[in-house]
Amino acid sequence: MKILMIAGARPNFMKIAPLVKAIHSYNNESKNKTGIKQVLVHTGQHYDHNMSDIFFRELGIPAPDFNLGVGSGSQAEQTAKIMLAFEPVCQQLKPNWVVVVGDVNSTLACSLVAAKLGLRIAHVEAGLRSFDSTMPEEINRVVTDRLSDLLFTPSTDANLNLRKEGVPTGKIKFVGNIMIDALIYQLRNGERSQLAEQLNLKPRQFAYITLHRPSNVDNPETLKAIMKKLVSLSRQMTVVFPVHPRTRKNLLEINFKSKAYQKLKLIEPIGYSDSLWLAKNASLVLTDSGGLQEETTYFKTPCLTLRANTERPITIKLGTNKLTDIRKLDDDIKEILEGKTRKGKIPRYWDGLTAQRIVRHLVEGARDGKE
Ligand code: UD1
Repeated sequence: MKILMIAGARPNFMKIAPLVKAIHSYNNESKNKTGIKQVLVHTGQHYDHNMSDIFFRELGIPAPDFNLGVGSGSQAEQTAKIMLAFEPVCQQLKPNWVVVVGDVNSTLACSLVAAKLGLRIAHVEAGLRSFDSTMPEEINRVVTDRLSDLLFTPSTDANLNLRKEGVPTGKIKFVGNIMIDALIYQLRNGERSQLAEQLNLKPRQFAYITLHRPSNVDNPETLKAIMKKLVSLSRQMTVVFPVHPRTRKNLLEINFKSKAYQKLKLIEPIGYSDSLWLAKNASLVLTDSGGLQEETTYFKTPCLTLRANTERPITIKLGTNKLTDIRKLDDDIKEILEGKTRKGKIPRYWDGLTAQRIVRHLVEGARDGKE
């Protein structure tokens, strides 16, 4: 059996790493049976060292078999470039499964190509919905799920969304959250953070910020208002803000001078182990990232999500996440600093065994496909 796995942008890498390991274990355990051949394709949607290579190294992902090197572009440009480059790879390899993860443009582009070639698609992290189609990710999620033959869901709300959309129940496999596999694996290998040492960070004495969504960083007035809030927070505690390239570009445009504020640490994008350490040990996390909403729920760290909606409502219902906006932010931060936070619970199947469940379904599914 041949499985083609796609990774393109930063949030994909921690979802691919557990799959690579689980396939490896499956092959070791089934020495007498036919093993799985895995082929890894990196689309090159993200390409800076800190946005890509650092995650391969930290997560122990082998070098990709194919790097499509597509780079940045408009939504259409980037999606089209990935499609053009991915089609010949599929034609050459004829895999039994094309496995896509998450909701980035690489996820959508590769699903479209595979579907048109009649290849079977498995989507990891299926069924999440923000119901906000102004976000490119929502379009990517809906279309990818529509084209997929196996839909691996992380939470019960995702199962419900798919059933409401008429997806046959046999295609929906509730396997849990694969990101938590990567997190648990990383923690087992020890909790180290060079960054924490460099910045002299102490647990529960700093805030961790990540913001990169167009809705927060592309409009200069919105970005200025957010930065004003962060400056004010930095008068109370150290604020660590690794800056995404999109945000960096826009901060330059509004001429934001971070050096003026000693406790506001605007730093380069950071790797996986540093990010996990910050998420685990921060007094509070303020973010618009999907992954951090989940990681803080696992760590039970108070999280404020600066968005009007989330495709991960379970992190609010069970976890420690709360939606906020610029007008409510001061009150929400105050509440957290006063300790008025929910304890939170870890959702079902966020247990480190998701990739194993997925591999089992892929093996069974490939058998079914042959019959
Ligand atoms: C993408 C995903 C988003 C995800 C985010 C995580 C889509 C539609 N969006 O958004 O869901 O949360 O990744 O980071 O797929 N750039 C660099 N170096 C890089 C990559 C990007 O400088 O390695 C700059 C480029 O100027 C580029 C901009 O960042 O134009 C945005 O990159 P892009 O991949 O288009 O979208 P993200 O905002 O990163």
